[in-house]
Amino acid sequence: MSKARVTSTECVQAAGGKHHGTHAITSPIVHSAPFCFDDTKDLIDFMEGRSERRQAEYGRMTNPTVTAVEEKLAALEGAEKAQLFSSGMAAVTSLFFTLLQSGDHIILTSDSYRRTRDFGFFLGKFGIKMDIVDPFAKAIEDAVQPSTRLIFSEIPTNPYLHFIDLHEVVEIARKNNVLVVADSTFATPCNLKPLEIGVNLVIHSATKYLGGHNDLIAGVLAGSDELVQPVTEMLMTLGSICDPNTAFLLGRGLKTLGVRVAKQNASGQAVAEFLEKHPRIQRVYYPGLESHPSHDLAKNLMYGYGGVVTFLVEGSFDDTSTFVDHLEIPQIAPSLGGVDSLVEQVAIMSFWNLPKSEREALGIPDNLVRLAIGIEEAEDLIADLDQALKAR
Ligand SMILES: Cc1ncc(COP(=O)(O)O)c(C=O)c1O
Repeated sequence: MSKARVTSTECVQAAGGKHHGTHAITSPIVHSAPFCFDDTKDLIDFMEGRSERRQAEYGRMTNPTVTAVEEKLAALEGAEKAQLFSSGMAAVTSLFFTLLQSGDHIILTSDSYRRTRDFGFFLGKFGIKMDIVDPFAKAIEDAVQPSTRLIFSEIPTNPYLHFIDLHEVVEIARKNNVLVVADSTFATPCNLKPLEIGVNLVIHSATKYLGGHNDLIAGVLAGSDELVQPVTEMLMTLGSICDPNTAFLLGRGLKTLGVRVAKQNASGQAVAEFLEKHPRIQRVYYPGLESHPSHDLAKNLMYGYGGVVTFLVEGSFDDTSTFVDHLEIPQIAPSLGGVDSLVEQVAIMSFWNLPKSEREALGIPDNLVRLAIGIEEAEDLIADLDQALKAR
């Protein structure tokens, strides 16, 4: 079983170096909408792909700061090409628009980011059908139809952190000539490299661990040139490019990805073990715990289990809010993967517009909490959780 990951050394060094003739150790932020040509021959060489020195002609197509980060991300994921986007959702929507056409069918696993699901439903307007199935290989296999074009799953899923058996799903997809896309936002290349298992494309909300500081919105798609390039063309039309300032912040964040994720893996495990023994906690979902339904799969696939811990507080909606309100370290906010710990009562943060009965049908009870651990010390987080759980 593969447990490939990138190391902190790779996070610092991959595709680094002396940038663009400036010999700067960091990639300069290049602010330019158009990029100039020396003469007509230079322009024609560029148009015909013979120009080596120039990567950019116009800022909606690409930009040297963006390209530098894309090269780093491709190296970290082990991909031929990585494409940055203005958000994770821009990566998802651009990919679906590129790959799918009327009559196609897609399979999405349940327990996934709500907006991805919403977009799948939206595509129904264009004659694209979607089945949402439980995150198990068998459920995916049963849902495959002759018109199935792609299988899309978060790995692990959100908020319950389930794992599909990627090896099995890749096999099912190969047999049926279907593409597999993994949203690896929660895993990061430090814990899992889906392309090495045979997944065709990897997506991240780079807003989360990759950026890592809760200060940017970006997305990335990585895979073969053949699959990513058409999505790049779509991006150029949709205009959802990542701007150079954001790319710079992302490139800087990537250098510390290895140390951040190592700390978050360790704290995630410590916090999950603490919560599992706490009398005021009904149930903990963390793949590093033997009690998690995906523990064995996660153990085979993952180098570490990440910084998100999901749990049920003993008590009512109000008891859960009281606990959340008494936390002093984690801020109440959506998102995850950054240096600051964040917490959400999932029913409120992500599903407040739905009635309780619909939330529960989606598997979101009132007492469900998602804690996204940052890089604070685990013992401080545990002491904070302990005092907040005592509050009434
Ligand atoms: C797993 C996952 N994928 C995609 C997205 C969308 O990313 P973004 O917020 O960068 O558009 C999110 C956002 O929370 C997410 O959690």
